[in-house]
Amino acid sequence: GSRAPFYGQHQSGIITPTQNFLYIASFDLTTRSLADVRKLFQAWTEAAAVMAEGVMIGDTNNHLNLPPSDTGEAAGLSPSRVTLTFGVGPSFFDSRFGLSGKRPASFGDLPAFHGDALLPEWCGGDISVQVCADDMQVAFHAIRNLVRIGRGTAVLRWMQEGFQRTGPADPAGGTPRNLLGFKDGTGNPDTTDTGDMNESVWVQPQDGADWMRGGSYQVVRRIRMRIEVWDRSSLADQEQTFGRHRDSGAPLGLKDEFAPLDLNAKDSSGQPTLPMNSHSRLAHMDGKVKILRRAYSYSAGMDTKTGQIDAGLIFICFNRNLQKQFIPMQRILAKSDKLNEYTVHIGSALFACFPGTTKGGYIGETLF
Ligand code: HEM
Repeated sequence: GSRAPFYGQHQSGIITPTQNFLYIASFDLTTRSLADVRKLFQAWTEAAAVMAEGVMIGDTNNHLNLPPSDTGEAAGLSPSRVTLTFGVGPSFFDSRFGLSGKRPASFGDLPAFHGDALLPEWCGGDISVQVCADDMQVAFHAIRNLVRIGRGTAVLRWMQEGFQRTGPADPAGGTPRNLLGFKDGTGNPDTTDTGDMNESVWVQPQDGADWMRGGSYQVVRRIRMRIEVWDRSSLADQEQTFGRHRDSGAPLGLKDEFAPLDLNAKDSSGQPTLPMNSHSRLAHMDGKVKILRRAYSYSAGMDTKTGQIDAGLIFICFNRNLQKQFIPMQRILAKSDKLNEYTVHIGSALFACFPGTTKGGYIGETLF
């Protein structure tokens, strides 16, 4: 259907099948009062729950002498499977709100990675909202109304929109392609397998930080693609970069997109079929470490300094434990990945995404 349920054990927008469009926003809190933060999350939860149903926010939409409580651009539109996913960054646990004792041990600032070219204006933030929907206007309406409700308590720090091919453009529902032309998401764990999700995505009781049980740690990296350089590389070079065929998405030497990666396969001259520095091979981590990727492409128009297209990947992934998953993986990729010739990480943020809530409750209730 066109609705993605808002309430539940987990927040929506994590294992929800990927929608077509993304808005991801990071906010800084302008208040030092935890009561204000609580009020903000209560109001955001209420708004998110009604938007997920395709209903107008608030009850003053028909008073001629008042500003409407909903901005109106989604009126009459289907909810388009909109999901809203909320989290807090490491900075939320500084001295402002008296919660420094609640910061999970595995949740600190990310280390610097080789090759990082991070711009402060695309990094960090106290709180985050990820909006995904199958319609761009519905997604925009959601983020815009949350910004509006947050006025006086939280200000935008950065915001990025993202896209992939739409459902109608790909009726067969194949794996979407990123802007380098390759299928992206093939090697993801199966989101319908509860065991796998408990293993790699959802924080478990034995992980400490009780308030995060059923939540997940989100990494956001704004990765610019050097499109012009990529476009001059041969197909062979491109395929060696990922260790996969462009057309089928299959591991090099194979035909089936979903064939398992065979790290020991050799070609006729005895060379590894999957180059040692190929992205899939390195990110596979010997099959022992998995993350759930939920990335979108972005285009920010033209880079006015160089006249080149400013586009890339809003890399988003979910982890049960950053120290065991994203951090060691990105350390290896940053050092050795052939893909680094064509990409540069310019933004970075980290959020602890809360567990879900039930009707009458609010997102964040386990922490504040
Ligand atoms: C696999 C693209 C950055 C982790 C892949 C694949 C592509 C791809 C095309 C192969 C198909 C698939 O399995 O989905 C990209 C691009 C990136 C990027 C274009 C940057 C612009 C990253 C980063 C990480 C990462 C930063 C994590 C630190 C993975 C993982 C796999 C993968 C875990 C699956 C490996 C497996 O098969 O086990 N990526 N990726 N990627 N990527 Fe990336």
